[in-house]
Amino acid sequence: MSKERFANLLYKHAILPVTSFDPEATHDLLFKVFSRFEKSDLFLKAVKQEFGIEDRKLVVEMMGIEFPSPILLAAGIVKYGPGACIIAAMGAGGEDIGTFTFQKTDGNPKVETFPDGRKVKVKRIRRFPDGTIVNWMGLPNLGTEKGVENIKNVQDKICKPFGFNLAPTPGLGDIESSVADLRQSLEIVYRIHPSWNTLNLHCPNTLDSEKQKRIDEAVQTMRGFAKAADTIEARTGIIIPKIAKIGPDMTPEDIKLIVLTAKECNFQAIKATNTTTDRTGEREKYAAYKGGLSGPLLFERSLSTMEQVTKFDRELGGDPLVKIACGGIGSFDKLKKIQRAGADLFECATPFIFGGPYFWKRMNRDYLNSFRI
Ligand SMILES: Cc1cc2nc3c(=O)[nH]c(=O)nc-3n(C[C@H](O)[C@H](O)[C@H](O)COP(=O)(O)O)c2cc1C
Repeated sequence: MSKERFANLLYKHAILPVTSFDPEATHDLLFKVFSRFEKSDLFLKAVKQEFGIEDRKLVVEMMGIEFPSPILLAAGIVKYGPGACIIAAMGAGGEDIGTFTFQKTDGNPKVETFPDGRKVKVKRIRRFPDGTIVNWMGLPNLGTEKGVENIKNVQDKICKPFGFNLAPTPGLGDIESSVADLRQSLEIVYRIHPSWNTLNLHCPNTLDSEKQKRIDEAVQTMRGFAKAADTIEARTGIIIPKIAKIGPDMTPEDIKLIVLTAKECNFQAIKATNTTTDRTGEREKYAAYKGGLSGPLLFERSLSTMEQVTKFDRELGGDPLVKIACGGIGSFDKLKKIQRAGADLFECATPFIFGGPYFWKRMNRDYLNSFRI
């Protein structure tokens, strides 16, 4: 049996079940360990040798960025900074880091207090054997300043394109405050010149989730974000592509408005999608769990959102937007399917968590093999 096959079996049948009890604590511990190990260039070299694949045929250029592979890491995995070098060495073609909000937030409560005073620990991430994750974290993060400082310390070692994923600090109330908050985050991230900035428009598990569902709020946020970025760019001369990340639970009319706004405000790309709150069809079995659902049961919704984005992008004319697919892309077949729907780049989070350390190698190898058919 090959080393890769043995490691995959061990990961699937031992590591995943043992760590499913508390995925959030496992993630935090693992990334603490990563932050120690990634200080060593020797270690990163060994990781790259074992897991990475480099091939010119994988390289794509989009938004003026050269991606060593079109298969990237989605936001929420490298959440605070640590781990960015290891995941890059494992073979992700780039990374969306964050989400960061200007103010540090703890996210949703980790403990629920009942009227009788009883306190119960809340499981903010649930992992299920069919590859689904339900995430109720609510954007816990260290704040943009600290996040950017963490990445600055390892920026030279990442050796892959990376971007910051930004959202307004939850609970600010009105749109002007949210935009002012995003502006402060942008001022900080421009200091270290990431490859792109993603505006996270639809996080389904924060204080602002209901508000974010309103299309007028989303459009105003996009406009405010673009204006703030343009002002910084005019002052500094640094140009950073803007990406709008949307949810999978939007109506076609709303998707059209987002695409129109993206074009009007010079966003270079749309990223579709974040997690879903929809619990119809196969997702009904997770109706008891609040939060954003990701993994294979999200794919169908991400695919139809991507189809709509592509349709409106063509209908509205002008320069085509780069389209980044995200949501349940756990196999080359799914990647191909969403590519046919118009996607140029692909992001994965949940399939990587379930696929283990050889995930990027498998996806990149399958992608490369498709050229040989
Ligand atoms: C544990 C977890 C945390 C996440 N945190 C974020 C986040 O902070 N910001 C964001 O834009 N998306 C976040 N996401 C959403 C993913 O980036 C991705 O859009 C979504 O999970 C669908 O892709 P997937 O099926 O490959 O996971 C998170 C997802 C998971 C599973």
